[in-house]
Amino acid sequence: TDQYAVIGNPIGFSKSPFIHSSFAAATDQDIDYTKIEGPLGQFAETVDAFRASGGLGLNITAPFKLDAYAYATEHSERAKLAGAANAMKFEGEHVIAENFDGVGLVRDVTHNLQVALKGKHVLMLGAGGAARGALLPFLAEEPALLVIANRTRYKADELAQIGAAKGRVQACHYLDLAGQRFDVVFNATSASLRAELPPVPAEVFAEACLAYELAYGKGLTPFLRLAQNAGAPQLADGVGMLAEQAAEAFAWWRGVRPGTAIVIRALTVPLA
Ligand code: ATR
Repeated sequence: TDQYAVIGNPIGFSKSPFIHSSFAAATDQDIDYTKIEGPLGQFAETVDAFRASGGLGLNITAPFKLDAYAYATEHSERAKLAGAANAMKFEGEHVIAENFDGVGLVRDVTHNLQVALKGKHVLMLGAGGAARGALLPFLAEEPALLVIANRTRYKADELAQIGAAKGRVQACHYLDLAGQRFDVVFNATSASLRAELPPVPAEVFAEACLAYELAYGKGLTPFLRLAQNAGAPQLADGVGMLAEQAAEAFAWWRGVRPGTAIVIRALTVPLA
């Protein structure tokens, strides 16, 4: 039985073992997928031990995505851009870093939610790790405009500079959003984890707007409530993103891409 795991701290809440076990059952893959609570400051030692015991791949969650990137010997383009890894594959001495968060998000939006980003006005709140991972996958969809708003302006500027070669991207402050409208608004800040609201004006949500909270399982977050009150007809949280990034990793490791509908249904927590 091939060994895989997710490593994070804390890790108790992780849905990854459930997701990957479901994928394995659905695709007839003989794998064992566990969770590892990595002691802080001992990422490399913990991963070394997992590899020594035969582990073939890991998913990486907070706070180890940067450590995983540093640990790897090879990096995919999207991992390089994010500067962070959410999946690794071990092949002898080689450690390959990947980052499927952004592609998972885009696939959830365009495929599961059936909302095209092409030609749209897209707003991304936040310029941290989650936003960085989504940047190139968003631009690959060719939105008419991607606006990145962040409290700390220079981080948004940095992302806009990185994206400039791939599409129309602007950075701004939350205050600059007054009077602007968007077809899709992503909350890629970590504010929802503390039940906080990024200071986004309610008028950003256009009439046919999709409001997407990247966090998962927090119910109707302050961001989603604001969108709902502003009349946004479609609300989503990150459950589909979670399932899709997992499917990407599974396909990368095992060569077979599982369907995600069943795990999404099982993990969906009603928003209202
Ligand atoms: P993650 O990996 O979840 O993206 P991160 O890299 O620490 O975490 O980034 C957190 C993001 O959430 C940042 O964009 C942060 O804004 P700053 O760069 O200005 O700190 C944003 N953020 C967190 N709490 C927020 C709040 N209450 N209001 C607005 N933005 C917030």
